[in-house]
Order: sequence, then C-alpha cells, then structure tokens
Amino acid sequence: MIHERLPKIWYGGDYNPEQWDEETVAEDVRMFKLAGIDVATVNVFSWALNQPDENTYDFDWLDETIDRLYQNGVYVCLATSTAAHPAWMAKRYPDVRRVDFEGRKRQFGGRHNSCPNSPTYLKYAERIAAKLAERYKNHPAVLVWHVSNEYGGYCYCENCQKAFRVWLKEKYGTLEEVNKSWNTRFWGHTFYEWDEIVAPNGLSEEWQGGQNTNFQGISLDYRRFQSDSLLEAFKLERDALKEHTPNLPVTTNLMGLYPELDYFKWGKEMDVVSWDNYPSIDTPVSMTAMTHDLMRGLRSGQPFMLMEQTPSQQNWQPYNALKRPGVMRLWSYQAVAHGADTVMFFQLRRSRGATEKYHGAVIEHVGHEHTRVFRESATLGQELIQLEDKIIDSRVKARVAIVFDWENRWAIQLSSGPSISLDYVKEVHKYYDAFYQRNIPVDMISVEEDLSDYDIVIAPVLYMVKEGHADRLKQFVAKGGTFVTTFFSGIVNENDLVTLGGYPGELRDLVGIWAEEIDALEPSNYNEIVMKDKVGSLSGEYKCNILFDLIHAEDAEVLATYGSDFYKGMPVLTKNQYGEGQAYYIASSPDQVFVQDFVDTITTEKDIKGELDSARGVEVIARNKADEKILFVLNHNNEPASFHTGEETYTNLLTGEEYTGETEIKAKDTLILSL
Ligand code: GLA
Ligand code: ZN
Repeated sequence: MIHERLPKIWYGGDYNPEQWDEETVAEDVRMFKLAGIDVATVNVFSWALNQPDENTYDFDWLDETIDRLYQNGVYVCLATSTAAHPAWMAKRYPDVRRVDFEGRKRQFGGRHNSCPNSPTYLKYAERIAAKLAERYKNHPAVLVWHVSNEYGGYCYCENCQKAFRVWLKEKYGTLEEVNKSWNTRFWGHTFYEWDEIVAPNGLSEEWQGGQNTNFQGISLDYRRFQSDSLLEAFKLERDALKEHTPNLPVTTNLMGLYPELDYFKWGKEMDVVSWDNYPSIDTPVSMTAMTHDLMRGLRSGQPFMLMEQTPSQQNWQPYNALKRPGVMRLWSYQAVAHGADTVMFFQLRRSRGATEKYHGAVIEHVGHEHTRVFRESATLGQELIQLEDKIIDSRVKARVAIVFDWENRWAIQLSSGPSISLDYVKEVHKYYDAFYQRNIPVDMISVEEDLSDYDIVIAPVLYMVKEGHADRLKQFVAKGGTFVTTFFSGIVNENDLVTLGGYPGELRDLVGIWAEEIDALEPSNYNEIVMKDKVGSLSGEYKCNILFDLIHAEDAEVLATYGSDFYKGMPVLTKNQYGEGQAYYIASSPDQVFVQDFVDTITTEKDIKGELDSARGVEVIARNKADEKILFVLNHNNEPASFHTGEETYTNLLTGEEYTGETEIKAKDTLILSL
C-alpha cells in the first residue's frame, strides 16, 4: 500500500493554486469534492515562489494550500519544486544552466533545465528538499514525496565533463582500460591524459542530436553517466527527505518509454514507481499496456502510481485530439488493470496563461462543473470510492516475460549499421502485442530479473549481452524454460565490442546456430519465412524484412527457411533443445501474422492460456490478491463486443450484475469482475 492513510485507489493530480486567487481556490475544493478527488500533487514548479532569493524561504502559500486541501478531505502528493530553477539563480550562478548538444550555454528559460552536476543546483535542491521535509514531516495531509519532475535531458557543460572523467576513473580505474574498452586505436583516438576526454556531443563524436556517433564506447558511457548524474540528483533530495520522514514513500514521475534514462536503475532507488501516461489518439492500446507493464517491472511487479494523464487532451502534440467519451475512464482502468494503485491527472485546473493553457484539466476554463470532462471525471471518482481497497496492493501474475534493456536500446540506436530502420521498441512490442491479443499477461523485465517464475522468456534483438546474462538464460532453459531471441542478438558486450568467434556470441550454444552474415535491405524489400512442416499454429509462408541473419544450424533443428534471395533455403527459424528446455532463434524481423502464430505455438506448448476469450480489441487482464482474482474487461473498440466467461459466473464489482457465458460489453466500457 502506498500509504495506509488512504487505502483506496488515489484520485487526483497536479494542482497549481499558486496561479490563482482565493475565490478560485475555494471553488477548487468544492469541485474536488464533487469529483471524488482525494489527492493533489502540489508544489511541482514553485521553486521561485518558495525561494525568492538566496537566503529567503517563504512557504506560507504552501501551508495554506496544504491545510485547505486537508480540511476538505484532499491529501497531498508533495513535490519538492526543483524541476525548474528560479531566474535569479540562473542569473547569479551560470553553473545551474546547461550546455546543450550543440555546445551552447543555455540562458534562463524552460524547465527541467538544471545541470545535474552544478554545485549550485545540487546545494539548493538538497536544501529546499530538507526544508520541506522538516516543515511538513508531521502534516497528516502528506502521503508521498514527488521529487522534481520528469527528469531528463543531457548536459554537456564543463562541470559535467569533469564529473564524467571522475565517473570513468571509478568505472575503469586506468586510462589504459578506457582505451581498451572504447577501442580507441580506431581512428587514432588513444587518450594519454584524463582531460583529453571530452563530452561526446555535436562538437565532438556525435551528430543528429545524438542519434549517431563515431565512438559507441564513449557515447554509451556518456548516456550512462548522464542518467546516473540525474539519478544522483534525485537521490540527494530523496535522502534529505528521508532524514526527516523515513516512513514517507518517495517517488519521481517517469515517462514510460522515455529513451534517455536507464529506468531500471532508477526504479531501484524509489519506494514506489510513478509515471506519466500520454498516448496519442492512435497509439496502439497494446503499446500503452506494454508501457504500464514496463513501469510495473521497474520494481519487480510492485504496484505503481499513474501520476499523470490528461482528462481530455494534450497541448504538445501536433494535433491534440480529445479523449472520446468513455476513453478517459477506459484508459484509467487500463492503468489500474496493469498495476496502478492511483489514477491521477495533469491537471486539476487549466492554467490561464503560458504553454499549457490548452492542456486538458478536470476543471476547464469555463470554471464550473457542467462539462463533459468534469462529469466523466466525477463518475470515475465515485467508482473509485466505491471500489474501496478491493484492488490496491494486488498483483499481476505472469508466466511470460519479455526482456527490455535501455542500454541495449542505446547501443542499437548508436550501432552505425546495419540498418537505420531497426527500432528496438517496435521489435519488442511485436512480441508483446501477440500475447496481449490473447489476454496473456506479460512481465517486462530487466536483464537482471530472476527468471525462475517464468515459463517463457523472450529477448527480442538482444544485441548487447551483459556480463552473466547469457549464463542466467542458459540456466533458465536448462531447467525447462522456453527462450526466444531474434536476429542481431548476442553481438556485443557492454562496451559495444563485438564478441568474437561468431554471432550470436555468448548465446551461440544456447540457440545452437551460427550467424555468418547479416543482410540489411530497405524495409519495402521482403523475404519469406517458409515453414518446412506445420508446427503448432505455424504453417505455410510469412514475410520478413529489415535484417536477415544468414545462419547455420549447429545443434538446432530448422523449422523454416528463407524463401528467396541468395540465401534462399538457409534457416530463418530454428529450435534448439538445451537441457530440459528449448531456445528459438528468429533470424529476421517477421510480420505480425508470424509473430502471432509463433506465440500461439509456444504458449500452447507451455499450456499457457489467456484470462478469458474475447473479441479483438477487448482486453482482459487480472490482478490477484492471495486467492482472490479481479478481472478487468476493457473494450477498446468503438462498437459493443463480446467476451466469454467460460463455465464461471463473474460478478461486476460496481453494479453487482452477474455474467455467465457469452457476454456483451459496450463500446469503450470497462467491467471489473470478481469470481
Ligand atoms: C508532463 C509534465 C507536466 C505537464 C504535462 C503536460 O507530464 O510533468 O508538468 O507539462 O507533461 O502533458
Ligand atoms: Zn552540466
């Protein structure tokens, strides 16, 4: 439970009363009550207000805000306000301002803008966190700390460069080791002094905003270093908070598939993961589901917070579609179904000026409750009250895991060849989607996760194999697990140095194949996956593109071969018996029909079945407590659709209705069922 003082699914979101007058904030609490809102995230961007100059702190407005909220039944998710530094600080202490990818020193402006290695920023961030903790440590309204906001972006300033060298010294010990790990004899890059190493930005090794690099070794390390630097900044504030409030949970809001930070590392440092979910109108719902599962995976399945979503529309996309009627409720329950114990918005009231005035809010500019968005928000709020503590703290249980790794993602992005069209997230999502279509729950796991609870582990494009990972995978398969990996796997170590002796390197004996060459064609060029015989649901021919490993079966059995080109007849799908289990290798990027048939085949082999049968677009997923199971049935379609309860009778937790057999669910509706 995130906090026992509010044992239900929390409902609320970002709230900025400092932008408003007294009359408005009085209206706010009246309307919060109507909407069933019980948590407000405050103080996210108020550093300048809290600290008008170097030595003055003024929290009166915050005292009043928190008291008023509490008196009106609203708890507080208390932010530390450090996500945008004050203008006076930027003027007086240039070190807080970042240097960007092009090497330009930033002026004051924007947000999420502080250099994580700025002594000034770190000093004042830690100080204000400590002051807030001291001040509010006994306030009954405060349930959770929200440090900063959406950490992200890289800095390339002098201080970062210096800190990078220290980071490297800690990691490698000697320059010799750095030179070896980065393969610096290539293009005559040998370093003889530490201070010859510079930040690999657009003035140095990288171009296209960091999409490309000449030297993968330094670029990977700079990403790790910047992710670590921001994480250290987070930890500094966290520890300051913990000193005064050891029992209050601390989080910072993450951004799902955000590329720049290694969130598995971040997850370990938080008491509870929280994240901001902003799909577009056309984001596949299975992509959103996968992202929820990834965020749940950061702390090995522990419930997370949905910290932000819009009640209606965003402002920062090219076209900011409204959430259609019912969609806000549907996507809120989708988050809960995948493990969220809160439903929170950005924002509770629309601001009047600046860049987010056209961002959706529970309270629109009209200012009253007679709006579609408010009505839908209030309906959901009442339902969450009615659900009491029935859902919180329950777990999603999965027998299937998909490996996701940020460093692998960086390495693929930066690899320089063989193809610019290889998209790691897309490849991962293909497999995820096939399970999703069958209502089979999946855990998204790190390369470090314990595999013993799983029957199937899939590691799409496991290009970078980290130390010890191959051995853990082998143990998993040897004990009877099914492992699947794909083309362009097992190629490099953590420094992007190729594992010599034949691809897929450390995975070679596990999958029982050798990849001799890798062909890359512009994606409109397809080859065929030709099945030799029918295997489970797999038969006939499928298409594949992007990359084509030219493989030789060593110990593996060949299930399918390429249908054309000079490697026609070479294996494209293989299966290797390894100990008690099996390892599959898929040598090219297959079409979705193949992936579905393949997933159907291996799940049948393992006797893994989906929660319930349902029409396409009807998602079914369960959260489990001890021996209780709560099923979420989510109809993402624009039309009514059906699902089948089998022999069982399920009761609707909100209406008491009972369902047996073939059951219809309305368009965009969610049913929460217990057995
Ligand atoms: C992010 C931020 C919020 C707000 C929203 C708008 O999630 O954390 O402050 O800017 O985006 O969508
Ligand atoms: Zn910097």
